[in-house]
This record gives sequence, C-alpha cells and structure tokens, in this order.
Amino acid sequence: MTVLVFGSVVADMVFPLPHLPRPGETVLGEAMRVLPGGKGANQAVAAARDGAAVAFAGAVGRDALAEQALSGMRAAGVDLARVAEVEAATGCAAVCVDVKGQNQIAVAAGANSWALATQVEDAALTAETTLLLQMEVPAVEVVEIIRRASKAEALIILNLAPALPLPVEVLRLVDVLVVNEAEATWLMGHLGLDPATRNFDEPASADLAEAIGEGVAVVVTRGERGLDAVDADGQRITYGTAPVKVKDTTGAGDCFTGVLAAALDEGEEFPAALWRAMLAATLSCTREGAAVSFPGAEETDAFLEASAG
Ligand code: RIB
Repeated sequence: MTVLVFGSVVADMVFPLPHLPRPGETVLGEAMRVLPGGKGANQAVAAARDGAAVAFAGAVGRDALAEQALSGMRAAGVDLARVAEVEAATGCAAVCVDVKGQNQIAVAAGANSWALATQVEDAALTAETTLLLQMEVPAVEVVEIIRRASKAEALIILNLAPALPLPVEVLRLVDVLVVNEAEATWLMGHLGLDPATRNFDEPASADLAEAIGEGVAVVVTRGERGLDAVDADGQRITYGTAPVKVKDTTGAGDCFTGVLAAALDEGEEFPAALWRAMLAATLSCTREGAAVSFPGAEETDAFLEASAG
C-alpha cells in the first residue's frame, strides 16, 4: 500500500510574536526561522513519520527556497520523483505565531499553481493507493485526479483546506472528507444547508454527510475540543483530546490528516485511525513549527498507550 499525496510544498517563514498583528499594526519579534511547510508536504511528512510508504507529486521553482521547502519530506523518506520544477517562485508562507500557540498564515502559492494532475501517472492510482489531497494546488487539477482515482478504486482522502468550492458530485467520489470548524461552516453554506435548521456555530459532520450523500465519511476537527465524525455508514464518532501544554498549533490539521491516511492505508478501522491521528496531532501542538513538530510512530504509540488509561 502507498499513500500518494498530490498537493502543495512551501517554505514557511515563521515569526514568533508576542501577539498576532491587527490590520495596520506592526509587531516586533525576535527572529524568523525558515521551515518546510505547505499542507500537501506537511501531510506527506506526517504519514511517512507514522510509518507509511509515501510518494508526493507537486511543484517547486528553480530557486534557493525549493530545497528548504522539500527538506522535510526528504528527511522523512518521501518519494519525490513526481516533483516538477517550474518557471515560478517556490511557494512561500508567512506564519505568525503568538505566545498562546495560535497562528495567522498568508501563503503565496507560486509554483504550486502549476502543479498538474498529469504528474501522477495512471499506474500510480490503483485499489492499493491511498490518495491524499488538499486545496493549495489548483482546484481543477484536484477534481481531475479525484475522477481518475475514483475510477481506479483508490481510497480518496480530501482535506478541504483552504475551503474552496468543488462540485458536490466530485465530493461524492471522496471516501473521507476532513475539515476544521471554519471550513465546515463554509461548506455548510456552499452545500446550501439552511442556517435556520442547522447550527452553523457548531457545524456537525452528520449535516455535511447528509448533504453530500451516502458513503462519504466526514470528519470535523475541533482543535482542543477533539473531533466529530461520521463513518461511511453514517455512524457517529466523537472524541475529546488529551490535555497538553500548547506551544504552536501550526500544521496540527496536517498532522491529523497525514496520520489518518497512514493508519487507513495500513488497514486500521476508521474509529481507531481517527483516535491515533488525533493524538498525533495533539503531540504536534507541543512543539514549534509544522512538519518539524510531527511525532514518529513510536512516540504516537506511547501516547496512545498512556491515553488508554
Ligand atoms: O497547515 C499549515 C500550513 O499551511 C503551513 O505549513 C503553511 O505552509 C500553509 O500552507
């Protein structure tokens, strides 16, 4: 089995700050660090560190930032044979992190806008493939690869981050949809759910699953409040998180989605895969950075054991 990620790869410029800037405000911090990032690359790292065989397809520029952006995946042993070099700047993100570990992120997509679904050959999409997608590469390419992967009967996991419109008939081809609360609220509006009959302040996985149609598992991650999910048969699963001292939440959603993909690719049952992914994401919040903060399988195993009781 293989986890194949088609997505973004970015160099994160991380600015630890006393507080996040308000519009028009300049906030002085100590030092900036350049770290590997991008939701696609982060999720590839999370899956590889959890023990999956991972391949990544995406695009970087022919510039000095490319190697920094790819370094996290290279260190984690991700297969980078499907990375294209294009005539655009490597993607770059400004990541501001405050003392409570909350962040504010601006992304310049750059080369990621030139990532093509054709970088993934048909032979790589089979019933043995877990395809992992996000929305930092062009939506038209995401749609294209979902259609091809669905025909090949691959397991398709879509993290709709950032929240962008996809046709509902394409969402129906996905096996597992992962969104955070803000994305879930946006998606409820996009799917035409009525705010008068649904709670848009606490968007529920069941509402989304019902609106999308049968057979799609939906996960709504709720930060320190855990997660709310329904499996492909409509069975509800809710988990709270383990309490930890939060240092930086950047990439926690990516850690969750990458580990979920790795666990499902391994054949883990959906509830157990969700629990593992949530604990791995919780661990990632105790350290700075995105991909560099993700736990390896052994650390997650130990935390699972400690959290069992
Ligand atoms: O999800 C976190 C990631 O979002 C950061 O690494 C940044 O690159 C942005 O893509």
